[in-house]
Amino acid sequence: MEHKDKILIIDTGSQLTQLLARKVREFGVYSEVLFYDSTEIATSDAKGVIISGSSEEASEKAFALAVPVLPLDAPESLSKEELDASLNVFVFETCECKKTWDLGENWINEEVANIRAKVGNDPVICALSGGVDSTVSAVITSRAIGKQLHCFFVNHGLLRKNEPEEVLNTYKELDLQVTYVDAEDRFLTALAGVTEPEKKRKIIGELFIRIFEEQAAKLGGSHWLLQGTIYPDIIESGHGGAGVIKSHHNVGGLPKDMKMGLIEPLRNLFKDEVRRVGASLGIPKHFLERHPFPGPGIGVRCLGELKKERLDRLRDADAIFIEEIRKAGLYTKIWQAFGALLPIRSVGAKDGIRQYGETVVLRAICSKDAMTATSYHLPYELLDTVAERICNEVEGINRVVWDITGKPPATIEWE
Ligand code: XMP
Repeated sequence: MEHKDKILIIDTGSQLTQLLARKVREFGVYSEVLFYDSTEIATSDAKGVIISGSSEEASEKAFALAVPVLPLDAPESLSKEELDASLNVFVFETCECKKTWDLGENWINEEVANIRAKVGNDPVICALSGGVDSTVSAVITSRAIGKQLHCFFVNHGLLRKNEPEEVLNTYKELDLQVTYVDAEDRFLTALAGVTEPEKKRKIIGELFIRIFEEQAAKLGGSHWLLQGTIYPDIIESGHGGAGVIKSHHNVGGLPKDMKMGLIEPLRNLFKDEVRRVGASLGIPKHFLERHPFPGPGIGVRCLGELKKERLDRLRDADAIFIEEIRKAGLYTKIWQAFGALLPIRSVGAKDGIRQYGETVVLRAICSKDAMTATSYHLPYELLDTVAERICNEVEGINRVVWDITGKPPATIEWE
């Protein structure tokens, strides 16, 4: 795709690479990130290069391009304002870039044309997760090829309260052609008796792949697979450290040996850019603002065995927590909030009767990219209300605790 003016960011493994790339794009100029060992650097047509971090190899490659170079090997010591100012001067004065990166109709039309040219009359298959990335990818692809796009949505029994109905309604409004696969019994049967977190993830991932294959077979095979890959996935994969942390996140992803061409309309976009494109495509705001949700669903939030009764209990408690957060107008200020059910029981009393109930833990976090996170400081009054409501309204829960751990050392999810 023609991005006109472009700034190349050479990544040497610095934590700040994505921040720099996003900032340049916020100025309205396209930025591309390449790791310093990439052979593509030599042929880059960028109007300027920022080196994120320090490396001799990166410097040599950057200066060989004969365009302006901005080495940023101590940006932490700059204030936000100083960093913004120096990037601004570099992008617009030194490199003389023009603001040509905007994600309006032009971008969408260009992408629609690319998809049409790539797939021709072939069918394309897509596993929708209910999340923002797969939905935006599907809507843009359906704009390009209409009913040649075959989506399916799997209910693995690990979705949130009322989620299957809500998600399917939205897909209907967006005129997507979606097959609903109710696989709750299959998943819960496969998971019976399993308590070990990695084993749960493995079972969920493998069964998902089996269902994917069944759906593809029903189509008589498919040449093309639509995936909601976004730019941070591309930047983080294959770059050692960061990539490894996220390697377990491809549950709901695909068999590695699948011989299909990939359609990834969002592969150059950051998350906020995906939301902007989604809004231009008419996807409802409340849907685009949904918190990230893991592929294995509440399976990684229900510690111990995944029985329907316990999952329903967790769903009810989680729904109360989210309802109160929304009522307080805090939902969009929080990166992710959810309840998790702990496999312990403690003593309590309800209506004067001794109870031996389960514990739900509440978690709300702030983050920019899910790689690190801090606890979101929710008002105690809200936490009090949620604790009271959960214990009163959800059978079997008699204790509510508040998780204040950051990432690291904890992860965002509990398993
Ligand atoms: P952790 O728990 O590793 O999570 O701190 C970081 C972010 O990733 C999400 N997450 C997943 N997303 N499949 C996904 O699509 C997964 O298996 C998965 N596990 C965690 C998590 O919700 C958080 O946003």
